[in-house]
This record gives sequence, structure tokens and C-alpha cells, in this order.
Amino acid sequence: MKAVRFHTYGEIDVLRVEEVERPVPGPGQVLVEVRAAGIQPGEVMIRRGARHGRWPATFPSGQGSDLAGVVVETGPEVRGFAVGDEVLGFTHGRASHAEYVVAEDVNLVVRPDGLPWEVAGSLYVAGTTAYATVFAVDPRPDETVVVSGAAGGVGSLAVQLARRRGAIVIGLASEPNHAWLAAHGVVPVGYGEGVADRIRKAAGDRPVDAFIDTFGDGYVDLAVDLGVPPERINTIRDWQAAARVGARTYGEGSAASAVVVGELARLAARGGLEVPIARVYPLAQVRDAFTELEQGHAHGKIVLRP
Ligand SMILES: NC(=O)c1ccc[n+]([C@@H]2O[C@H](COP(=O)([O-])OP(=O)(O)OC[C@H]3O[C@@H](n4cnc5c(N)ncnc54)[C@H](OP(=O)(O)O)[C@@H]3O)[C@@H](O)[C@H]2O)c1
Repeated sequence: MKAVRFHTYGEIDVLRVEEVERPVPGPGQVLVEVRAAGIQPGEVMIRRGARHGRWPATFPSGQGSDLAGVVVETGPEVRGFAVGDEVLGFTHGRASHAEYVVAEDVNLVVRPDGLPWEVAGSLYVAGTTAYATVFAVDPRPDETVVVSGAAGGVGSLAVQLARRRGAIVIGLASEPNHAWLAAHGVVPVGYGEGVADRIRKAAGDRPVDAFIDTFGDGYVDLAVDLGVPPERINTIRDWQAAARVGARTYGEGSAASAVVVGELARLAARGGLEVPIARVYPLAQVRDAFTELEQGHAHGKIVLRP
């Protein structure tokens, strides 16, 4: 089968699509023929070696956590899945950017009717992370919540989940994304010079009650300056600033379960959550997919399809 591999840490050119042996599912595992698999900024950091201390790679390394596809083989003691089932979920094995992937049965859910493959295959990391960020700041009806990176993979879901709680949501994004945010009930505000004043103006005479940072680079301090209590600031990027001011750092790891993926998948399938898909690339164009991701302005998810 074909799978993405890299043999050293490095830039995009270390990524290759290679012929490798098809994995065999062990106890409690199934083999999934991949139909779609999202890509993540975190995979860029791992591939560059920037996370070596915490999440080292062993070479040759595969990559990919998000997955959706069809079960083609089941290992012993598998519960709840059979050959032919359409599923989505995740693997912690850095392995879904491939034609086939082995996944634990407990990390999968059945694909709800009507959920497009590219959405199903890009829901895990962004979805569970967005879910965790909103859980962390616990927005209540009519409270004001600011989200940085509001139109990105995580942010585009976080703004909608915060809106579903009844909060007033201010989304920081570049101008081309403002119409999408407004159409989803979010007050769009441009980032850069003067952003604090623009947020205060957008909030009107209300305080900013909570802040979800998906970008880093000073937004935790901005939230403090806006008067947000530290326990209602959550960042998925700037752990140092969070430690310094006492903000939260709930992310993927706080909500990494098939339970959350299943809830979000059902919500998306019935139209309660839009998962914007920036672009779909064939697996063979994995370098092009990461080139677009690394430009840092994708609206929603970039997805690979074998
Ligand atoms: N801790 C965790 O569990 C966890 C989990 C997932 C992701 N992450 C991290 O969270 C970050 C976001 O991930 P993602 O998948 O959402 O990334 P993404 O889809 O690439 O989105 C990046 C967003 O950043 C925005 N942006 C670019 N420059 C900006 C600036 N100066 N100020 C504010 N926003 C700016 C872009 O907005 P415009 O297009 O509008 O310019 C874009 O929407 C990444 O660093 C990722 O590694 C952490």
C-alpha cells in the first residue's frame, strides 16, 4: 500500500509517498481503507523535529491522526465493527496518511448518514480541540467570547460551538474570512495593529468574559489586558504565557475520545456544525497539501484522499 513517510526531520521535501507493507490488525483493532484524512499544523512541528523533546519521531515515520474510511478487516476481540462498516475517528499511531490504517475499535464511530467523507476524515483533531477549548472557558448565554484564529481548522469549529452555548462571539480573522464568520453569527474583527481597540468596540459596553486563543503570539496577554479572568482564557498554542498568567491549556488531549468525535459527527451530519473544507488533495500531493497548510491562512481543513 501507499503511505506517507519521512526518514529524517526536515522541511516539506522530506515527505514521501512510499510503498509499504499493509498493516495487520491486532486484538481490538480494525484495518480501515482510508477515504479521507485531515492534516494538522502539529504534524509540521513533529516533522521538523520541533517537538522532539515531547513527541519524538522514530524513523521511518508515518503521520496522520484523523481518519475516515471503510473497515476491510477485523482483528480478534473487536467489538462493535464489522467488515464493510463506514467509520471515522483517529489513531495515535501517526499512520492515517496512507491507503490503509489500523485503528483501535474504541477510537472509531460509525459514519453518520450524509456526513461527507472529507468532513468525517478531518473531524478528530480540530473537532476535539475546539470542543475542549469551549469546555475550558465555559461560555454562558449572552457572555462575550473572543476567538483568535477564528476561521482556521480549530477556530471555525470553536466559534460555532461557543455560539451554540448562546454566547456573543467575536472572531479574529483576516478580511477574506469575515463574511463566513458573519454568516455564522460571529462578529468578525481583523487582527494586527489596534486589535484591542477593535475588540472593545465590537464588545460595546459589555466586558469580554472569555478568550479562546488558537494562534498564540501575544493573545493570552491581550486577553489579560482586556480584563478576562485567567481561568476563562484558554490557549492551545502558548503554554508559556498560560503558565505565566494562570490561563488554561485544554486541547486535543482533554477531549480525545470517540465519544466526542461521535457527538460532533452527528451534529455536523444534521447541519448543526459546519466543518469548512479548505481543499482536498490526493495522497500523492501530500507536499502540496502541507505547502498550503504552512502558509497559515487556510479556511477550515485541508484533507488528503488516497
Ligand atoms: N494543543 C492542542 O491540542 C492543539 C490541537 C490542534 C491544533 N493546535 C495548534 O493550534 C494552532 C491552530 O491550528 P489550526 O489547525 O486551527 O490551524 P490553521 O487551520 O492553519 O489556522 C490558522 C489560523 O491562524 C490565523 N492567523 C494567521 N495569522 C494570524 C494572526 N497574526 N493573528 C491571528 N490569527 C492569525 C489564520 O487566520 P486567517 O486565515 O484569517 O488569516 C488561520 O485561520 C496551530 O498552532 C496548531 O498547532 C493545538
